[in-house]
Amino acid sequence: MKNIYIETYGCQMNFADSEIVASLLKKEGYELVTEIAEADYVLINTCAIRDNAEQRIRKRLRELRAQQARHSQMRIGILGCMAERLQSQLMVEEENVSFVVGPDAYRRLPEILARVRQLGVKAAETELSTTETYDDIEPVRLGSNGISAYISIMRGCQNYCAYCVVPYTRGRERSRDPETIVAEARSLCEQGYKEVTLLGQNVNSYRWKCDGGEVGFAELMERVAEISPTMRVRFATSHPKDLSDRLLEVMSRHDNICKCIHLPVQSGSDRMLKLMNRHYDSAWYLDRIAAIRRYMPDCSITTDVIAGFCTETEEEHRMTLEMFSKVRYDYAYMFKFSMRPNTYAEKHLKDDVPDEVKTRRLEEIIALQGQIALENNRREVGKVYEVLVEGESHRSKERLFGRNSQNKVIVFDRHEVQPGMYVRVRVVDCTAATLLGELCTQ
Ligand code: SAH
Ligand code: SF4
Ligand code: F3S
Repeated sequence: MKNIYIETYGCQMNFADSEIVASLLKKEGYELVTEIAEADYVLINTCAIRDNAEQRIRKRLRELRAQQARHSQMRIGILGCMAERLQSQLMVEEENVSFVVGPDAYRRLPEILARVRQLGVKAAETELSTTETYDDIEPVRLGSNGISAYISIMRGCQNYCAYCVVPYTRGRERSRDPETIVAEARSLCEQGYKEVTLLGQNVNSYRWKCDGGEVGFAELMERVAEISPTMRVRFATSHPKDLSDRLLEVMSRHDNICKCIHLPVQSGSDRMLKLMNRHYDSAWYLDRIAAIRRYMPDCSITTDVIAGFCTETEEEHRMTLEMFSKVRYDYAYMFKFSMRPNTYAEKHLKDDVPDEVKTRRLEEIIALQGQIALENNRREVGKVYEVLVEGESHRSKERLFGRNSQNKVIVFDRHEVQPGMYVRVRVVDCTAATLLGELCTQ
C-alpha cells in the first residue's frame, strides 16, 4: 500500500515541487510508480492560474473514476495551487478526492497518507507558511533527462497583480538560504547535469540576509555560475519592475549564464499596467529592454501577455500589438484574461470584454508574434551556436535536438553526437518555432 503516482500541471515551480514531494515520500518508504494502475495513491499537483487550468483537473478527476473502480484501494489527493485555493471544499465538490494538501504543507504528506489509509477519513492541510522553503530536501529528479534540472530559490509572491491568484495560493514571498542553493547546484554538476534553472515568481527580488550583509539575485547567479564553466545557468521569471543593471552586468560577464530573459509585459497600455498593479509603465519596460540589449546584444527576450483584461479598449489592445512590434520577442506565452476568485480584479473591476473580443484580440497577438518569431529566426540563418544536446528529435531518430544559450531549439543530423554534449551547429534553415542546423566539424 505504498505505491505513489504523481501527475503535475502548471508552471515549472509545480514541477520542482513534485520533485520535493517525491523525495519526502521516498524517505518514508513510499515507492514511485510510472503506471497509474499500480498506484495506491495518485497525487495530482494542480494549477489555478486560469479557469481552464482548473477545468482540466476536474475533467482528469472524472477520468480517474474508472481507474478507482478497478482498484478500490486507490486514493486520490490534490496538491498545489488548486488545493490551496479551494481547500476542503474541493473534497465536497469532487467526491473521489480523499485529501488536499497545499504547497507549504508537503512535509505533512506521509502523516496524511497514513491517516487517510488507516482511519478511512478525508484530510485537508492547507496552511501557508512564511518560512517554509524545503531547503533541506534534495529533490528526486522526476522524468529528468539527466542534463537539465530546476532549483527553486524562493517561494510565494506578494506583488498582488490585480488579475493573479498566485499570492493567494503560494503565500508570502520568501527566499531560500543561498548556501543550500549553491550546494544543490554543485551536487547536480557532480552528477553530470549540464544546466540548472533557478526558479521563483520574481527572481529579481531574491534576498537573503546574513552576517556578512545581503545576498541578492545577481550575487546568487554569480555564485552558481562559478561552480563550473560547463554548467549552464538559466532563471525564470523576471519582473520588469525589479530587473537590475547589476544582474545584466553579471550575465554579460559569464558565458555560462544563458542569454535569455523572460520578461512578462502583460500589456502595452499604461492604463492597463496601472490597473493590473504591475508597478511599471511602457516607458520603463522599454528602458529595461534597451538595457538588456546594451549589455547583451545577442540576448533573446520572451514574454507573457494577457488579452482582454478588465475594461481594455481597442486602442489599448493596439498598444499591446505595438509593444510586440517594438520589442520583437523571440517567444511569447499569450493568454486570454480569466477572472479569478478573490483577486483585486474580481473584487473591484468588471470582466467586461466579451469573450469573442478577447479571443479575437488574442488571435491578433498570436498572428503578429508568429510573424515576428519567424523573421527573428530567419536572421539566425548562417550563424554558428554552441548547442547543448538534449535528445532525439521527435520526428526522426537520425536527428538530435538541443538549445543554444538563447534557449532556441536547434535540430541537426546526429553523426556521432550524444545527448549531454556541447556541439557547434551552423543554422541553415528555420521555421517560426525551430532552427535547423548542420554540425560544424572544426
Ligand atoms: N510570476 C510571473 C507569472 C506567473 S503566472 C510573473 O509575474 O511574471 C504566468 C502568466 O500567467 C502571467 O505572466 C500572466 O501572463 C498569466 N496570467 C496570470 N493570471 C492570469 C489570469 N487571471 N488570466 C489570464 N492570464 C493570467
Ligand atoms: Fe502573479 Fe504578479 Fe506574482 Fe507574477 S508577480 S505571480 S503575475 S502576482
Ligand atoms: Fe499555476 Fe500555481 Fe504555478 S497557479 S502557474 S501552478 S504558481
